Amino acid sequence: MVQLKEGIHWVGVVDWDIKNFHGYITHRGTTYNSYLLVSDKIALVDTVKAPFYETWLRHIKQIVDPKKIDYIISNHAEPDHSGSLKKFYKEEAPQATIIATERGQKIITKYYGEIPITTTKEIPELSLGGKTLSFVPVPMAHWPDSMVSYIPEDKILLSNDAFGQHLASTGHFDDEVDQQKLWHEAEAYYANILMPLRSAVGRAIKALDGVPIEIIAPSHGVIWRKDLEGILNRYVRWVEGYTKPKVVIPYDSMWNSTKTMAYAIAEGVASEGVECRVYNVTANHRSDIITDILEAKAILVGSPTLNNHVYPSVAEFLAYMRGLKPMNKIGASFGSYGWAGGAKRFVEEQMKLAGIELIENDLDFAYKPTEDEWQKCYDFGVMVAKKVKE
Ligand code: FEO
Repeated sequence: MVQLKEGIHWVGVVDWDIKNFHGYITHRGTTYNSYLLVSDKIALVDTVKAPFYETWLRHIKQIVDPKKIDYIISNHAEPDHSGSLKKFYKEEAPQATIIATERGQKIITKYYGEIPITTTKEIPELSLGGKTLSFVPVPMAHWPDSMVSYIPEDKILLSNDAFGQHLASTGHFDDEVDQQKLWHEAEAYYANILMPLRSAVGRAIKALDGVPIEIIAPSHGVIWRKDLEGILNRYVRWVEGYTKPKVVIPYDSMWNSTKTMAYAIAEGVASEGVECRVYNVTANHRSDIITDILEAKAILVGSPTLNNHVYPSVAEFLAYMRGLKPMNKIGASFGSYGWAGGAKRFVEEQMKLAGIELIENDLDFAYKPTEDEWQKCYDFGVMVAKKVKE
C-alpha cells in the first residue's frame, strides 16, 4: 500500500466504473480514500462505499490486523465514506472507538442504527503517540456533519470531500497523473458538488490560514503533495466567484430554429474574440455544461416553446443549475415558438431565481428565424461579448 509519510497509509479503493455520482456524470470513475495511521495507537480514517468492503478490508489487512485498531474516525457520514463502517466495526474491530461530530453521530445512527459513537465534542483531539489527530468541523463542506482531520506532526490535512476529484487512477499523488485530466476533474468536482456551498468552503479555507500543510489528502481522487498552492488558489478563486470573458450557450431545439439562433449568437460572440461554447442539453450531460459555466461570465439559455411551456430538457438543466447557484453571472434567454410562446418567460424566471443578472432582449421568434432575425441573434452575440470583456 501507498504511504503518505512514515506510518500514514492510503488504504482506499479505486472505483473505475462509476459513471454517475448522485446525478453528476463521472467520466473517469473515482476513488474512496481511507487512511490508516499507525503509531503507538492505530487509527483508521473514513471507510468506503459498501460494495468495496472486501477490497478495502484486504488493503487494511496488508498493514495491520483490524483487531489492533484503536479508533475509527468518520470525517463524514455520506454513504460513500460510511458505507462500510458498521460491518467493519461489528465484524472486524468491535474494540475500536468510533469518533464523529455530533451531527455525524446522528446521521450515522439514522442510516445504520445504533452504533456506539464518541463525538468530537468529547474528543476534539486524539493523541496516538507521536501522531495527533486534530478534528476540525467544517459544517456544510459538504454535509452538516463534515469535518477535516489534521496531523500536525506530519503537516497532513485529511480533507474529506474538499479538494477532491472524481478521478480513478493508478497514480495516488497529484504528480503521478495526467495534469490536464487532474485539473479538469478538480474543476468539475467543485462546480458540481461544492459550488452552492462556497460560503462554508470559504470558511474552511480561512480556518486553514497559517496552518502548515505539506499534504492534502482528500477522500476522492489523488492526494495533493506537489501543487498545493495550485489547488488552494483555485479554490479561493472559485469561492470568490471569479469569472473570465467566456460565454456558454446551453440550448435545445425541436426543428433547428433555436439551434440556428444559438449558433448565430455564438458566431457573434466569436467575432469579438471571446471564448464561447455551445451545448445541446440533450446531447451533453448537465454536469459537463456546469463545469464549463463555473468560470464563464455569461450564460445564454435557448429553448423552444412546447405546449406553451419550456422544453423539458431545458427545464431539467435549469433545475440543476438553479440548485448549484452559479455566482457573478450575467445571462439571457432566447428561443423559438410556433403560434404561441411561453418558454422564454419561464427560462428568464428560472435564471433570475438562480441569481443570474438578466440581459433583456427580444430574441423570441415564430417558427423559423428569418435572415433579419438571424442577424439580430448575431448582433446580440456581439453585444454580449463586449459586455463580458468590460
Ligand atoms: Fe464523498 Fe459528501 O461524500
